[in-house]
Amino acid sequence: MLKLGVLISGRGSNMAAIADNIESGQLLAKIEVVISNIEGAGGIELAKNRGLNTQVIPHNDYPSRDEFETALVSALQHYDLDLIVLAGFMRVIGPNLLAPYKGKIINMHPSILPAFNGLNAQKQALEYGCKVAGCTVHFVDEELDTGPIIGQATVRVKETDTQDSLSARILLEEHRLFSDAIQMIADGRVSVSGRRVHIRKEI
Ligand code: GAR
Repeated sequence: MLKLGVLISGRGSNMAAIADNIESGQLLAKIEVVISNIEGAGGIELAKNRGLNTQVIPHNDYPSRDEFETALVSALQHYDLDLIVLAGFMRVIGPNLLAPYKGKIINMHPSILPAFNGLNAQKQALEYGCKVAGCTVHFVDEELDTGPIIGQATVRVKETDTQDSLSARILLEEHRLFSDAIQMIADGRVSVSGRRVHIRKEI
C-alpha cells in the first residue's frame, strides 16, 4: 500500500478526490498526512473531517525557503512516506525538499505542459486562444513544472468559456488523472529514463 504525504495550499479538492478514491477502494493507497503551508486553507478542514492527520506549516514563519522546507521535511519524516503528492501546493520546490524525496514527488498542473507553467495556467491558455486545454501530472525536478510527465488529459475550450468554467472542467480531469497516476505508481508500472516516463501495460 503506497503511503502518501499530501501537500496543499488551498481548497483541497484534489486531495479530497484522492481520499474519495481511496475510500471507495478504487485507489490502493493511504494518505498518512495532509500538510498545508497556508493557515486556514479549506483543504485542512476537509482532511480533518475525514479523520486524516493534518498539519499547518506556514511558510511565512520561516526566513527562507530552505528553512521552511527543512521544517516541512522534518514533519514529513514522521511518516514513512512512499510518495509526496503536490495537490495545489503553491510553492516552488527547492533542494531541501527535493533531495530527500528525489523521484518521489509528483505535482498536478492545470495545463498541457510545457505550455503555460507557473500561475493562472487556465487563464493563460484562455487568453492565448487555445482550442484545447487540460492538465498534467508529472514528477517534480529542480525547475518549475518541468519534470518528467506521467500523464495528461485534455478538454475542449468552448466559445463561451470563462476562466472559471474552463478551470472547473479541467479540475474534473485533474481529479481522475491524479488517482490514475498514483495507482500506476503503486502498481510499480511507472519508470523514468531521462525525460520520458514509461508506463508498463496492465497485466
Ligand atoms: C488545481 O487546479 C491544481 O492543478 C492547481 O491548483 C489547483 C488546486 O485546487 N495547481 C497549480 O496550479 C500548481 N502549479 P485544489 O486545491 O482544489 O486541489
